[in-house]
Amino acid sequence: MNPLAAKNERLTLLPDKSSTLEKHQPSALEPRPWTSEKWCEYFQENDRRFSNIPWEAGVTIDKDERQAIASSIREFQAGENSEGNHLTQKSAEHARQVGDFAYVRAIRFLIGEEQRHARDLGRFMIAARIPLVETTSVDVIFRRLRQLAGLEIMVAVLVTAEIIAQVYYHALRDATHAAALRKICERILRDEVFHVRFQCERLAILRAQRPNSALALTHGFQRLLFLGALLLVGVKHAPTRRRGGFSFTRWWSVGWHKYERARRIMDPRQYPGLQTNLSVETAGEKRHAFAPQNP
Ligand SMILES: [Fe+2]
Ligand SMILES: [Fe+2]
Repeated sequence: MNPLAAKNERLTLLPDKSSTLEKHQPSALEPRPWTSEKWCEYFQENDRRFSNIPWEAGVTIDKDERQAIASSIREFQAGENSEGNHLTQKSAEHARQVGDFAYVRAIRFLIGEEQRHARDLGRFMIAARIPLVETTSVDVIFRRLRQLAGLEIMVAVLVTAEIIAQVYYHALRDATHAAALRKICERILRDEVFHVRFQCERLAILRAQRPNSALALTHGFQRLLFLGALLLVGVKHAPTRRRGGFSFTRWWSVGWHKYERARRIMDPRQYPGLQTNLSVETAGEKRHAFAPQNP
């Protein structure tokens, strides 16, 4: 492990306790998914958060660091940068079906956060003289996969990338001496914890009426997709991963640990009543059943 990574090992990536966001900390034991209204409230509050990226310190990276991270960060920056038109369209169709109109707003907030990730990384790259690209081959494959799919597959593919991002940005943070990039990674990591929860809860809702045998098959496919993606990213981004103190074994075990947490959240059987309480019809009007709970 390099000295920088060793120094970082004790650093935690927990959200900032001084923020009122503390009350929004996701827990794997939530009794039911958050309502879309609650997610919108969270995203709005998160947006107001002061990001405190130390740009004034300037950005300098040495030759070794540049070699290890430049092509890798370029690929992730391109991946973060999306208009999300197809996702918005599919989420709007779903929202109409279940009467959960705030879901589209929540999706727009999510896309906005991804674009902020792309902007921050882009600003760092310009300062560090790392050329930006519009897209990359892996990004094209991921986008095509999503465009061919309905909402469930689209969210499943996205959350796969987001779970891996939780490991990747940890490695990238520990791979760099640049204070601005370290701060950007920490903010992304904090955001992604909530993104994963948001997407997994929706998967649980979308899969709520699936019988156990079909659910087992679904989780099998999800696991296979994750396995392939974790392997691909771990190999393709090996220089960044290694510089950040992630041997392939560590990458693999941290990745699967994150996956298992996400899998529990996306399992509809974790939420009592979800399978029979998807939406309700009132006076001919379909209304979303996840009304806010009493505080
Ligand atoms: Fe992101
Ligand atoms: Fe994300």
